[in-house]
Amino acid sequence: MARPVDFSILEGLKGRSILRLTDLSAGEIAALLALARALKADYAAFQGALAQRALVMLFEKPSLRTRVSFEIGFQKLGGCVSFLDHRNERIGAREPVGDYGRNLERWADAIVARVFAHDTLTALRANCRVPIVNALSEIAHPCQALADAQTIVEHGIALERCHLAWLGDGNNVCLSLMELAALTGGRMTVVTPPSHRPCPVLTAEIEAIAAKTGASIVLADDPAAIRGADAVYTDAWISMGQQDCPEKIASLRRLTVTPEVMAIAGPRAKFMHCLPAHRGEEVVDAVIDGTNSVIYDQAENRMHAQNALLLALLGALPPNGSARSVRREPATTNA
Ligand code: CP
Ligand code: NVA
Repeated sequence: MARPVDFSILEGLKGRSILRLTDLSAGEIAALLALARALKADYAAFQGALAQRALVMLFEKPSLRTRVSFEIGFQKLGGCVSFLDHRNERIGAREPVGDYGRNLERWADAIVARVFAHDTLTALRANCRVPIVNALSEIAHPCQALADAQTIVEHGIALERCHLAWLGDGNNVCLSLMELAALTGGRMTVVTPPSHRPCPVLTAEIEAIAAKTGASIVLADDPAAIRGADAVYTDAWISMGQQDCPEKIASLRRLTVTPEVMAIAGPRAKFMHCLPAHRGEEVVDAVIDGTNSVIYDQAENRMHAQNALLLALLGALPPNGSARSVRREPATTNA
């Protein structure tokens, strides 16, 4: 049934920066997902929404999905994009990060940055009057988690009832998904070797949020803990910028996502991966190419979720109730 969507909660996002998912509230996430859904259903309804707006993208690391989804997404809404390749020269190497930000804000309406050090993002935020969006740092990948939330909901799983299982390294993507579960009152089981658990300081922060929302975040060592999970998620064992480490790989081998591991979760469990995948390491072909894999939906949704976020951060929201073509999500399938 079609229904008008009230995006008014998103008005409070105008001018804000998003460095971690916890920079958003559960209500804002829900409204962003509704807006992302409206975008995905009908880009024509948002034609020109970002006309005359400029996005600057600063990338210290390689990218396929993040770069293309931001660039095409922003341009689809009428804006222009400037990409600065920082793979060979870190942000702050040629001139201080603050000076950099104070220049960029004179031309750009928003800055999207993929960095090694999360501190680079906080320095940009402190020195810029335009929104900064984290496109991946060593501790967070909030745009990935937002797109993943859209994908989970699209597949009929309500976030507050979702049991998400993570297998592998307790990395940046894992931390942002833990934040998603904590904020939305969901459940997440994180299976890692004890030596590769997510950052304890950030885990404690996330657990404090979970205690307030009723979410459950469990750190485990045994894949048996993922029994009954709605989705099983993994990622590269060695993230960009990390040294190859044979001991780490050896400790993670037992957590490769195979059909046998998926069977522990159950026959309806979706397989998720932020990509790029290292086939034969963290996941085998039979799973990533299997019928329960939703990896390309995740990749597609990067664009819609990020566009929703940018419309809100730039104060370019549709008038209330204007996105009437949005349909209700199908009835959720998770009990
Ligand atoms: N998932 C993701 O961020 O992919 P890229 O590294 O290709 O941008
Ligand atoms: N954890 C990975 C994610 C890539 C999208 C990395 O940081 O390299």
